[in-house]
Amino acid sequence: MAPATTTTIASPACSGRCLSNNSSGRGYPSLSRMGSGKKSCPDYDYLDSVMSMRSTRIHSSRSFHSASIVLASDEEADLCAALGGATIGAGATMKRWRVEDLPDVGGDLDRLWLEDVAPVPNPGFGEVRVRVSHAAVNPIDWKLLDPKGSVSAFRQNAPYTPGFDFAGVVECAGDGTDLDVGERVIGYLGLCELSSLGSAPGSTGGSSGALAEYLCVSECRVAVIPGHSDPQELAGLPLAGLTAYQGLFTGHGGRAHKDGGPLGDLKAGQTVLILGGSTAVGSIAVQLGKAADARVVATASSSPAGILGSKSFATKLDWVRSLGADQVVDYTAEGWTGKLGENEFDMVLDCVGEDEELGWAARVLKPGGCFVSVGVKDPKVPQGAEFRFARFIVAASGRDLGDLVTLTEQGKITVPVDSTHDFGELRAALERSRSGRAVGKIIVTVDESAMEEAAV
Ligand SMILES: NC(=O)c1ccc[n+]([C@@H]2O[C@H](COP(=O)([O-])OP(=O)(O)OC[C@H]3O[C@@H](n4cnc5c(N)ncnc54)[C@H](OP(=O)(O)O)[C@@H]3O)[C@@H](O)[C@H]2O)c1
Repeated sequence: MAPATTTTIASPACSGRCLSNNSSGRGYPSLSRMGSGKKSCPDYDYLDSVMSMRSTRIHSSRSFHSASIVLASDEEADLCAALGGATIGAGATMKRWRVEDLPDVGGDLDRLWLEDVAPVPNPGFGEVRVRVSHAAVNPIDWKLLDPKGSVSAFRQNAPYTPGFDFAGVVECAGDGTDLDVGERVIGYLGLCELSSLGSAPGSTGGSSGALAEYLCVSECRVAVIPGHSDPQELAGLPLAGLTAYQGLFTGHGGRAHKDGGPLGDLKAGQTVLILGGSTAVGSIAVQLGKAADARVVATASSSPAGILGSKSFATKLDWVRSLGADQVVDYTAEGWTGKLGENEFDMVLDCVGEDEELGWAARVLKPGGCFVSVGVKDPKVPQGAEFRFARFIVAASGRDLGDLVTLTEQGKITVPVDSTHDFGELRAALERSRSGRAVGKIIVTVDESAMEEAAV
């Protein structure tokens, strides 16, 4: 008989201060099973130092209970076969998108190519291999194709497979993982975590990206999704949802603004201005703000929104209102900032990244308020400004993602889907994102049968 291996199955019990029981008292019980109970998940230490921000673990007082079970390795193999039946042998191949020769690409989408016969990756310690059903496209995917562009610091080492967001099924679990084969998961692979700038443990300076039939990912970066959930919709949740969540509430990384204050600390009863309510990030932020009992004001335009879910919206203003915003301001109207009250806001979450927005923030933010931006390139904080400014990069966190999955289960947030594209149509999906007009997430169907077969 093969030697027994010990697998720790963690059952989380949240007892400390986090979004789930912050001073708003609302409570967001976590369904996430990821990372909980893992004493040595390197990602969580890394989150504290990502982007050189000083860390204060303001949400760090979670405690977890865990129990151990013992499985013999041949029993594990039987279990794998019974649950997924899909562990694939040596020499197996898959399709994946590739970016070659990054220095010459310069944003040219024709330099992307679909490789038909690529090796299926094998999970390392703490990793799972996921059979991908859907991936989501994000602005970062096309921004990375321009080596001299705004995100040049995060360049990937070519050749690489693009894509950061995925939904799929755990097809094989490496040593040191708690996930079961056959579980449905979503995840954000992590820009900082994978790029050459990243100093995360295991950083490859490249990416085993989401736009492939299989990928390997640290289990710390994924969250389990319920069997009945829609993988197409949830594939769009990770990057945009984590950005909104961490920007508004800091999240489990516990990152601080460089002057020491928390990055995003929205509380019930406070007022937040969300710049770009019709961006994917902003649309989730509006819903999160309302779920936290904050007053939410958002900007959007009167351009057509179209059909989202089962409803049709004449304009993006209408759509953002339907997400729960208390007030929506047309940012294309002359003098629109005049509609915002003096010292009205505790926080601005900027989901657009226009440099000039900071100029008027001093008037609308309360003294001591916070301006959190996902994209301002050259922040010029006005002299004598009494607000705090933070520019941040989202961190890959399975725990935060688990909280977001819980909120979708509770019906508190939905993920808007702008369009879906076949796996072979990645360029069209990237063009749609690059148009800057998307209304929600752009989804690529990689292999729909992945989820269906897992359900059998
Ligand atoms: N720092 C980070 O960690 C991080 C993470 C995620 C995303 N991001 C960045 O955040 C930005 C948003 O990403 P996303 O995926 O949410 O974008 P997106 O969904 O592609 O945004 C498209 C939407 O933005 C709206 N929009 C364009 N310009 C606007 C403006 N000046 N004010 C208000 N709305 C405007 C467009 O509506 P109109 O028809 O009105 O133009 C459209 O509905 C991107 O720059 C992305 O790279 C950064």
